[in-house]
Amino acid sequence: MAIRVAAPRRGLMGEVTVPGDKSIAHRALLLGALAEGTTVVTGFPGGADVVSSLGAVRALGARGERAGDVVRIEGTAGRLGPAGTTAVDCGNSGTTMRLLSGLVAAGEGTTVLDGDGSLRRRPMRRIAEPLAAMGARVETTDGHAPISVHGAPLAAIEWTLPVASAQVKSAVLLAGLRARGTTRVVEPLASRDHTERLLPHFGVELARDGHAVAVRGGQRLRGADVPLPGDPSSAAFLVVAALIVPGSNVLVRDVGVNPTRTGFLGILRRMGAEVDVEGEVVVAGEPRAALHACAASLRGTAIGPADVPASIDELPVLCVAAALAEGDTTLAGAAELRVKESDRIAALEQLRLLGVDITATADGLVIRGAGRRPLRGARIRAGGDHRIAMAFAIAGLASPDGVEIADPECVEVSFPGFFERLEACGARVEMVA
Ligand code: S3P
Repeated sequence: MAIRVAAPRRGLMGEVTVPGDKSIAHRALLLGALAEGTTVVTGFPGGADVVSSLGAVRALGARGERAGDVVRIEGTAGRLGPAGTTAVDCGNSGTTMRLLSGLVAAGEGTTVLDGDGSLRRRPMRRIAEPLAAMGARVETTDGHAPISVHGAPLAAIEWTLPVASAQVKSAVLLAGLRARGTTRVVEPLASRDHTERLLPHFGVELARDGHAVAVRGGQRLRGADVPLPGDPSSAAFLVVAALIVPGSNVLVRDVGVNPTRTGFLGILRRMGAEVDVEGEVVVAGEPRAALHACAASLRGTAIGPADVPASIDELPVLCVAAALAEGDTTLAGAAELRVKESDRIAALEQLRLLGVDITATADGLVIRGAGRRPLRGARIRAGGDHRIAMAFAIAGLASPDGVEIADPECVEVSFPGFFERLEACGARVEMVA
């Protein structure tokens, strides 16, 4: 069943919350599974990706019970990656596959990690190489999943990432926790640092120095309580919705505002938006606040390589904002978008069907914004990519005839309740054949 989102008759209004942070949830489950004792994750987002991680840690021998948005993990006290062969289905989740590979690399057995068609197309040499350098035997299928990680005693390495990636950084750090010596990872630009913030919460000492982080192997993890903030990547869709619909005033409560995730706010401010960050507090090492967004006239901007790591998952919806801004927006240095859940640069070219002047480049896009004006009605395909589905749903808010998402189910990967929340704020959302 397709879903059509169309321009509402008046501004979007309301106070909403979004599901808990997916990135931190994956890490809490994985660290909880390795730790001694109990880990309690609250605000669990429950999307398909984090459910894949929960299934994975159970398959590997940790006990995990879920009741609503609370998950309790009984850790294995360092015995993750049991003898024999364990098959793990990572579904659509790159974070599950890459972080888990690192976590089981020092285990006793073999872990075979596989996933859906999209995950099987994503590059996995970037984790196989450092893990092999540490002493694990990692077999990929021509650089892709399925991957077999044969656990082995590991030796620490120093690894410099060619491209900033929190998944690769985290995979190496997680392997480093069980390696002999001190493992150090250096990034060209700062990617999200949830792993670095969460490890001390589980009792692990880390050394951070600029874009480098080092962890000594052999440290024990203690189970911890991890209350999750709302996911800023989900909140970004609602923020852009409020900016582009005239007369809107939306407050998204209790959102994570870790600066390695909120690059989208800086970019939107450069475009002329005023988004207020209200009532910031720090809980379990992560800052959280309310985001308050009102409709604004936006102008184009240049989004360059230095902007990309802290806004990587928000770039699709920022392109929708750019389409409704006055003047050109250029996005460069974002070749990683081509290897996400889909080739997001190619998927965003469907904005042309809505009447947007857009040109793809090897590592980005040029969008010639024509200001706030009605977009053409169209039917697009998300190709199984949740963020593409949601970005086009937001574009629909500027289209009187509406934008139809032919395959909206994938939204469940990260944001269960997305369409319901849009509707609660006053958007026109209908099921269509
Ligand atoms: C994530 C890291 C990013 C991001 C992904 C989640 C994480 O991927 O795009 O959605 O939780 O570590 P990369 O590490 O490939 O940049």
